[in-house]
Amino acid sequence: MDILLRPTATDVAVAAADILADFARRGATLGLATGSTPVATYRELIRRYDAGEVSFADCRAFLLDEYIGLPRDHEQSYHRTIRREFTSHVDIPDEAVHGPDPEQGGQAYEDAITAAGGVDIQLLGVGTNGHVGFNEPGSSLASRTRMKTLHPQTVADNARFFDSADEVPIHVLTQGLGTIRRAGHLLLLATGAGKADAVHKLVEGPVTASCPASVLQLHEYATVIVDEAAASRLHDLEYYRFIEAHQPRR
Ligand code: F6R
Repeated sequence: MDILLRPTATDVAVAAADILADFARRGATLGLATGSTPVATYRELIRRYDAGEVSFADCRAFLLDEYIGLPRDHEQSYHRTIRREFTSHVDIPDEAVHGPDPEQGGQAYEDAITAAGGVDIQLLGVGTNGHVGFNEPGSSLASRTRMKTLHPQTVADNARFFDSADEVPIHVLTQGLGTIRRAGHLLLLATGAGKADAVHKLVEGPVTASCPASVLQLHEYATVIVDEAAASRLHDLEYYRFIEAHQPRR
């Protein structure tokens, strides 16, 4: 796993945009995440698109997850969110942006990803409880896209996007950890002190369903980019700095 330490959340976004723009230039299939962490990265990619530095015209995109029970055009559905935050501001064709559809179910989404040749790079955030996608603690490390029930912690964390916690759907359709692991490259971003414990566990803890993000340790190409606050509980911080300062030429 490559651990990239950056001073601020803005620097995390720039480093993530560097990697994603390289994939976009090759017309990659992008795995996109929602939530607040990737928003700065999307803004940076939109800025580069506006500056003529990158195009997404040949890309396809697959979302990680979707709420069950929200109308597709609800302001907080992930179908709407990704368009508002990113894809409607760049030149990726709207019909090339896919998300899990609760009406169609998990297998249809797995089939769509497979038919597209798989995801080349999957962008990920991490929940304060270590979830990725909406794979809550206890999720099978081999799971595929299926319905999950959100942990009360996640409902509380996501209440900020709604008028009240009561409005947060508790059921979701999410790519499984086995689905996520099939992507060619995993790129996890974490910013802020609230993520420090999850980052420590996913990077330095055991691979365990109790911290679903620890599944990244099983992937051949996983990059974790964190700001100082999110890195603050990493035990081997100095070693990660040392590695980055002494990158071998590839
Ligand atoms: C979003 C998703 C979630 C979020 C996670 C962190 O599509 O799958 O795993 O990445 O809940 O959310 P934020 O970035 O809002 O802290």
